[in-house]
Amino acid sequence: MVAVPDALFAHPRLAAVYDAFDGDRADLDAYLRLVEGVGARHVLDLGCGTGSLAVLLAGRGIRVTAVDPAAASLAIARAKPGAEQVDWHHGDATSLPDTAADLALMTGNAAQVFRTDDDWHTALRGLHNALRPGGRLAFETRQPAYRAWEEWAAEPPVTVRDVPGIGAVEQRFELTGVALPYVSFRFTYTFPDGAVVGSDSTLRFRDRAEVEHSLAACGFELLDVRDAPDRPGREYVFLAARPG
Ligand SMILES: C[S@@+](CC[C@H](N)C(=O)[O-])C[C@H]1O[C@@H](n2cnc3c(N)ncnc32)[C@H](O)[C@@H]1O
Repeated sequence: MVAVPDALFAHPRLAAVYDAFDGDRADLDAYLRLVEGVGARHVLDLGCGTGSLAVLLAGRGIRVTAVDPAAASLAIARAKPGAEQVDWHHGDATSLPDTAADLALMTGNAAQVFRTDDDWHTALRGLHNALRPGGRLAFETRQPAYRAWEEWAAEPPVTVRDVPGIGAVEQRFELTGVALPYVSFRFTYTFPDGAVVGSDSTLRFRDRAEVEHSLAACGFELLDVRDAPDRPGREYVFLAARPG
């Protein structure tokens, strides 16, 4: 059975406004440079969501296989200009196509959606199998020590965006629980027609040693742990290899 993602990604009305609330995606620049740096010709994008990275890569002539369990997010992705060049898959790490990819990516802190050790290890093993020998894996996860949830809770709880084709949509944020390593929050969206749709999420915050251990346990060789250039001191960006 395919994983059941949060409403934020899986509800059609929330998937339709996701990009509008997701900022300018300056975070993706470092991944574009990474793809170029490792000379990847075929990239696997796990947890591709609304496909922001996948279409950028495809536009640069990179072959992209993009996978996500949220059908509503994939529908948004498939409607983007250039989407026809991407190989989209509705699925998760347990059903990855046999890509023999040069590089697998999880952007937007997608790694934090894997809450249990079992799910996380299953994802890493699936990615390992989907890479060619010598292929690379890169992903980011928020540094627990930065305590991002305190920043989230201190920000104004309401954001309004004018979403093309939809109108003014209000997003309300509420931190609903901190029980480390888990942090829970709720988004509530109010649409111009009065509809109110909520989404509850719980993310897992893993420390560096824990991630390094899990990578080794799943057959990866750790190459580097970097900062995210657009979010210094806040993220760990792991680069690992499936040994050749
Ligand atoms: C925060 S979003 C990031 C989306 C995208 N990578 C980006 O940078 O815009 C997390 C994504 O992980 C997906 N997801 C949730 N559970 C998953 C699972 N078990 N396997 C793969 N992806 C999953 C969600 O559907 C969602 O699209």
